[in-house]
Amino acid sequence: MGLFLVLIVFLPIAYYLIYVHTANSGLTFSNSLRIPELLTFKDKGGQKVFELKAQYGYSEFLKVGKTETMGYNGNFLGPTIRVDKGDEVVINVANQLDEMTTVHWHGMHVPPDMDGTPHQMIPAGGTWQARFPILNEASTMWYHPHPHGKTAQQVYRGLAGLFIIDDENSKSLELPSQYGIDDIPLVIQERLFDKDGSQRYELNRGAYYGDTILVNGTHNPHVTVPARNVRFRLLNGSNARAYHFGFNDDRPFYQIATDGGLLESPHLTKRLRLSPGERAEIVVNLSDGKETLLKSFPEDEVILLAEAVFADGIGNGHFEILKIIPEPTNAEPTDLPHTLNKIERWRPEDAVQTRRMVLGGPIREGRPPPGPGPRIPINGKLMDMGRVDEVVRLGDIEIWEIVNRGGQAHPFHIHDVQFLILDRDGTPTDPSESGWKDTVLVETNETVRFITQFNTYANPDIPYMYHCHILEHEDGGMMGQFLVIDPEAE
Ligand code: C2O
Ligand code: CU
Ligand code: CU
Repeated sequence: MGLFLVLIVFLPIAYYLIYVHTANSGLTFSNSLRIPELLTFKDKGGQKVFELKAQYGYSEFLKVGKTETMGYNGNFLGPTIRVDKGDEVVINVANQLDEMTTVHWHGMHVPPDMDGTPHQMIPAGGTWQARFPILNEASTMWYHPHPHGKTAQQVYRGLAGLFIIDDENSKSLELPSQYGIDDIPLVIQERLFDKDGSQRYELNRGAYYGDTILVNGTHNPHVTVPARNVRFRLLNGSNARAYHFGFNDDRPFYQIATDGGLLESPHLTKRLRLSPGERAEIVVNLSDGKETLLKSFPEDEVILLAEAVFADGIGNGHFEILKIIPEPTNAEPTDLPHTLNKIERWRPEDAVQTRRMVLGGPIREGRPPPGPGPRIPINGKLMDMGRVDEVVRLGDIEIWEIVNRGGQAHPFHIHDVQFLILDRDGTPTDPSESGWKDTVLVETNETVRFITQFNTYANPDIPYMYHCHILEHEDGGMMGQFLVIDPEAE
């Protein structure tokens, strides 16, 4: 009898809450998805020279009124920078804001003085030139500001853009690759708006969680694509929320890339988790011609049922994101290649040491930085621009062990390198994270180990950063600095 009641009363409610109700129910998907333009460059003696301008603008996201925003070369977000591995790149940045900013090349292997951290501040009205060779393999990277204590607010106002790298391998593969046609960039962010359409910055549960999704700065979006295999490059550009992407018809799709490169082979799945800062590329077969809806599902569809509605945590946002409308096409359907990439894995026994990073717990060192977020330490310390936390030797292979002692999940991000996850609580990593990564979500009471090598760039004075990519946590001091030094150069 009891079970029967549960079945007839609870199951329909559960079904409604999990599959029907969303935090942003009632979307009509009437706006056509904006595709960030590809930034053009000048060829100067074999270098690709790009110009970026951080500026103010106005955007009308909801059809009710304008709101002040920031963008690169425009009103909101920035153009997509697209380069080839091996290119020599120069990026001239002009700061037309009346506050300081920096531009960081998230995921990219660049020298520490070109990394765009708080150590390369661009004053209001100032300029900065970044120059570096493209050493990373084909991948979807991104760029965003990184000023100490102000990253969250500048990103929320609109400063972010994609940085796509191609290489010989990626060009030789038969993957959908026509930008904006069958290779669609998706910068997914969530916001709060007031009734008059203005963006509102407000902390809830210690970070910026919104109830309104923007994709490439488009609210309520749809995109029309050819009815065949289509690639989407997903960036979780939100300040704090993790998403569990999937489709409303539960169609399976292939994940083909992680943060820093293509997977070894396509990974068939129905859900994909991305925490702030993480990227993935997926290929969806739309040859049935049926419309589908990209969604974010609650993390644990049963246990977090109530939370999904009443108190959504980092992973529990239940949102409709993008309507995908396939159009008939004459193009031959193509199969995905079985092999996408070759990943040379380091052996854990070749690591010279294991570095432990404990997230959360009591604060022993460091003054609270200027940011708005909660004060959450790494190894008991809050970020101090004048303190170097770790010193790494150039060329060393290391294991980093990230231990989460805090009461919530944190996406841990490290500059300079791409890493390979070894395990989560001793369990070998899932195929969805088996490729190159620069950001990894570490759940409460979880320990994640990754292995990496610190190559190419050493500088005894200018550090790189590691931090939580919940931007309010980063701004609140959940960040540390490491130097890479070359013992031979001493
Ligand atoms: Cu995307 Cu140090 O950040
Ligand atoms: Cu970064
Ligand atoms: Cu955090």
